[in-house]
Amino acid sequence: MCGIIGYIGPGNALSIVIDGLKRLEYRGYDSAGVAFIEDGSVKTVRSAGKISRLEGLLDEEGRGGKKFSGAVIGHTRWATHGGPSEKNAHPHKSGSIVLVHNGIIENYQQLKKKLKAEGFEFSSETDTEVICHLINLHCRQKPFEEAVRAAMAELKGAYALAIMHESEPDKIIGVKKDSPLVLGAGEGEFFISSDASAFVAHTNNAIFLDDGEMAVVTPEGFKVIQIANGRPSSKKPSVLPYGQGMAEKGGHKHFMLKEIHEQPRAVADTIRGRLDPGGQDVNLEEFGLTAEQLREVQKVIIIACGTSWHAGLAGKYMIEQMARVPAEVDIASEFRYREPVLKGDELFIAITQSGETADTLAALKLARKSGVRTLAITNVTGSAAAREAGSVFFTRGGPEIGVASTKTFMTQMAGLYLLAMAFARAKGCMPADRFKGLAQDLIELPAKIEAVLSRKHEMETMARGYFKKEHFLFLGRGIDYPVALEGALKLKEISYIHAEGYAAGEMKHGPIALIDEDMPALFLLPSNSGLKEKILSNMEEVRSRNARVLLVTDGEDKELEAVSNGFFVVPASNRFLGAALMAVPLQLLAYYIGVLRGCDVDQPRNLAKSVTVE
Ligand code: AGP
Repeated sequence: MCGIIGYIGPGNALSIVIDGLKRLEYRGYDSAGVAFIEDGSVKTVRSAGKISRLEGLLDEEGRGGKKFSGAVIGHTRWATHGGPSEKNAHPHKSGSIVLVHNGIIENYQQLKKKLKAEGFEFSSETDTEVICHLINLHCRQKPFEEAVRAAMAELKGAYALAIMHESEPDKIIGVKKDSPLVLGAGEGEFFISSDASAFVAHTNNAIFLDDGEMAVVTPEGFKVIQIANGRPSSKKPSVLPYGQGMAEKGGHKHFMLKEIHEQPRAVADTIRGRLDPGGQDVNLEEFGLTAEQLREVQKVIIIACGTSWHAGLAGKYMIEQMARVPAEVDIASEFRYREPVLKGDELFIAITQSGETADTLAALKLARKSGVRTLAITNVTGSAAAREAGSVFFTRGGPEIGVASTKTFMTQMAGLYLLAMAFARAKGCMPADRFKGLAQDLIELPAKIEAVLSRKHEMETMARGYFKKEHFLFLGRGIDYPVALEGALKLKEISYIHAEGYAAGEMKHGPIALIDEDMPALFLLPSNSGLKEKILSNMEEVRSRNARVLLVTDGEDKELEAVSNGFFVVPASNRFLGAALMAVPLQLLAYYIGVLRGCDVDQPRNLAKSVTVE
C-alpha cells in the first residue's frame, strides 16, 4: 500500500508534503516523489529508495527549505506493477496532467493498447501511467474536472488519486474507489491523503471520501461531487479523536489489530484481476504460468516457514482435492537438508510474505539449481524470492507492520486457492459450474471476514476468560489442522502462552495426557466437514477431564454448544475458505489475550518480522 499526501495553503507546501511523506514511512515503500506546477508547467522530482534521497534531489535543485507556495502532491510507492525504480516512482505525468495513485487498475493492459493507438508513449511499467494518459486524452475535449470524471468511467479496479493540471497550479482533484482517501481541513489550508496520519499534526478535521466521489480542493476550500453524475455530495468533517500514533494504526490500538481489520481489503486486492472477466478461469498471467505448464506438473512441492508454512499445508488440501495433483509440504529449513528427491516434473512453490526469509530462499535456490519449475508466492515486489523464482504471484496484502502474520495468512490462502482452481481447470478435472461456484465463494470471502470482525467483541469476551492460562491446545482435522497450528502460533508468539496445534485425531496418541483444568482445548469444526461425530467425541473426552472446551464452527449446533464452554460461529463457506475464515477468530483471540497479558503485541519479544538469518 502506497502513501499519498497533497497540500494547498499558505504554508511551505513542499516541506509540508515531504514531512507528510515521512509520516507515511511506517507503511513501507521503495520509492518516493513530489509534483507541483512551476512557471506554468508540471514539475516532478522522484527517486527510488528512501525519502532522504528525494530530499537530496530537491536540495540539489536549490529547493530544500525554500518556500514553495503552490499546491504540491507527493507519494511513497510500495511496488505492485513494475519494480521499485525512479521511472516507476510516482508522480506520473502526461502532457498537462500529473498524478499519484494508490491501488490496482485491473484493465490497464486494454487501456494501454487503446492509448498507444492514440499515440501515447509509455515510460514506466506501472498501471498508474495509464490513468495519466487517459485523463490527458479526455482533456483534449473536456475541461479538467470533466476529463477526470470521463476517465474514471473507463477504469476498472481500485484507485485513490491526487491529480493536478498545469493550467491550475492551485487545484488538486482527489478521487476515491476501493482505496482510502481523506481530506484534512485546517485553518485556511487543506490536505488530501491516503492516511490521516500524514496531516493529523496540522489538523484533526477529516473528511473521508466514499467510493465514487471526487474532491476538488483549492485555497478557498473544497467541494465533493459524485463522479458518475457530477452532483454534489454533502460531506461532514469528522474530528479525529487521536493523534499521529493512533492515526498510523487507523484508529486501532495496535498495527496487529489494524492488519486483522485490513484482511477484507487485502483479500479483495489479492483477487482483483486474477479471475478472468468471464469467471471461467484464473488469469494465469498473474502467476507467470501457462495452462500447458500446469498440465505438465506431476507433483507440487511447497516450502515455507511459520505462518507461511501453515498456509502451505492448507494449500496441499486445496491442490490435491481440487486438482488431484500430489502436493508435498516442507518446512524450508528441513527441506534443504533432507536431500530431496526431485525428478524434474515438479512445481516448487516458495511461500514467503517478506520474500527475504533465509531458509526459504536457500530452499528456493536449491530447487532452482535442480532445474525444477519454481513459483514464489510473496507480498513484496522486488524481494529476493521474487527475483530468484522462475515466476511470482504477488499477494498484494500491503505492508504488514505487526510481527505476527495475519493478513499475510489470509492473502496466501486466497492465492493458493486461486492456484488450485487454475490447476484443476488446466488438468481438466473441474467443470465450469463448479469453478464458478468456487470463484463466487472467493469473491464473497472479504464480506464474510468483515462479518467476523463485526463480532470481534465476542472473542474479546472469550479472551477475558482464558488470558491467565499458561497452556492451550488447538485442534482440527483435515484442512482445519493447519489453521489449528496457525492459531497456536499466533497465541504463543503474541502472549507467550505455551500453545500447541494438533490434528484432533491425534489426541489419543499423546496430547490427552496433558489435558486438565489448566489446559483449555479449542476445536475447529465446520459443519460441512463430515467430522462432527469424531470431533464431538474428542470434545467429550476433554470435558470428562475437567478441561475447558472452546469451539469455532460455522453454524448453530445445540449439541456442540452444549459440550463447549465457549464458541464462535463464522459464516459458512466451502471447506477451503471456511478454514481460512476460522483463522480470524483465532487471530483475535491471540491479540486480545496478548493485550490482557500486557504483551507488546506488535513487537513480541525475541521475534523479527523477517528472519533473514538461518
Ligand atoms: C508468523 O506470525 C511469524 N511472523 C513468522 O512465523 C513468519 O510467518 C515466518 O517467519 C515466515 O516469514 P515469511 O512469510 O516472510 O517468509
